[in-house]
Amino acid sequence: MNLMVIGGGGREHAIIKKLKQNPLVSKIYALPGNGGIARDAECVDVKATDLDGICDFAVNNSIDYAVVTPDDPLVMGCVDALEAKGIECFGPRANAALIEGSKAFAKELMKKYGIPTAAYETFDSLEAALKYVETRTPPLVIKADGLALGKGVVIAESRSEAKDALVSMMRDKKFGKSGERVVVEEYLTGPEVSVLTFTDGKTVVPMVSSMDHKRALDGDKGLNTGGMGTVAPNPYYTPEIARECMEKIFLPTINALNAEGRTFRGCLYFGLMLTQDGPKVIEYNCRFGDPETQVVLPLMQSDLLEAMLACSRGTLEKTDVRFSDGCAACVILASKGYPASYEKGYPISIPEDVQGSVFIAGAALRDGTLVTSGGRVLGVSAAGDTLRAALADAYAKASRIHFENMYYRSDIGARALAAGE
Ligand code: AMP
Ligand code: GLY
Repeated sequence: MNLMVIGGGGREHAIIKKLKQNPLVSKIYALPGNGGIARDAECVDVKATDLDGICDFAVNNSIDYAVVTPDDPLVMGCVDALEAKGIECFGPRANAALIEGSKAFAKELMKKYGIPTAAYETFDSLEAALKYVETRTPPLVIKADGLALGKGVVIAESRSEAKDALVSMMRDKKFGKSGERVVVEEYLTGPEVSVLTFTDGKTVVPMVSSMDHKRALDGDKGLNTGGMGTVAPNPYYTPEIARECMEKIFLPTINALNAEGRTFRGCLYFGLMLTQDGPKVIEYNCRFGDPETQVVLPLMQSDLLEAMLACSRGTLEKTDVRFSDGCAACVILASKGYPASYEKGYPISIPEDVQGSVFIAGAALRDGTLVTSGGRVLGVSAAGDTLRAALADAYAKASRIHFENMYYRSDIGARALAAGE
């Protein structure tokens, strides 16, 4: 089979490495991929948002199956466009991807179908939003409706901070069209859990749970990032909570999407908060998480391509999807300054025996040498019988990788270890 994977981050590298384990796979193209992915797939210089370029490439290169992973192409309708050319895909169509593409849509869906989430109001008018904030007690959560590179959420500790956020989104258009509509939400507390699921629109198969570390610095200090590390499983996500989530959140969401004529096939990501009143949805993503994928797939024992095909073809109920009982950890090595400004172009040295544990996110090939090209440069993932063992292995490997201005958090998994003991 000829496969095409759309995207070019650490998540896509992890997906490609796992897909390669299936003997039916003869060739994998990555559009656009990156300098590290080039070791495992043929990278093609087509942007993940260039839907015409993607469709042309698929048709001209006898692609049998396309795996569309980033949020923008999914929300833009990449799967719809490829299917119109007769290409089978993994990933939701645009009408279902809207569950990530519009927070207002996701909130309305949850309200209509009784899926537990934070109380909220949606606003199209800045004046009305400012007035509403006057009536609420902080902290308040302000969310841009559309995609904003994971930066569209502000936790405002005061009314004036909330108003500043509203003005920058709605008047100053900090996130362009994405912030013209906003959701103002109740602030929830509790441990956060990421649960990625496979679904064919009928059956939901949760993957192993995980925990992200979003802040840039140790002790959950510093700016929010795309994720500085992950561990799996998440010790807060007990079997009882998993059952409750399946019954009150996962199946109701799939059923709600079906009832709205927006059947979801692909990976549906549930960002959950375990509150005093039970698990609630913080966000939906219409795709694999990054860097959650880098700990979830190393624990997957069954075949990834088979699970993906089952989602596309509606045969998930009969498909073997298994995860090990072990643990995994991923530590992100970033460029100093990320998520604000940082320098790039520095050579990266990775010992050969560590290559297998590395997923490259922001690196390019320059005259055959791998150099940094992004804020999150790479992730080092390791699996073990215990979380402690997985973390020790990931950190030992990370310490053997070098590039100038490298930094990483030293406390990935610390909270999970404490919770598990
Ligand atoms: P999101 O971009 O939706 O993942 O939000 C980013 C982060 O903001 C989440 O991971 C949470 O830590 C936090 N967050 C979002 N919504 C809420 C909420 N209603 N209450 C408390 N924290 C929230
Ligand atoms: N790690 C969070 C996300 O992928 O959105």
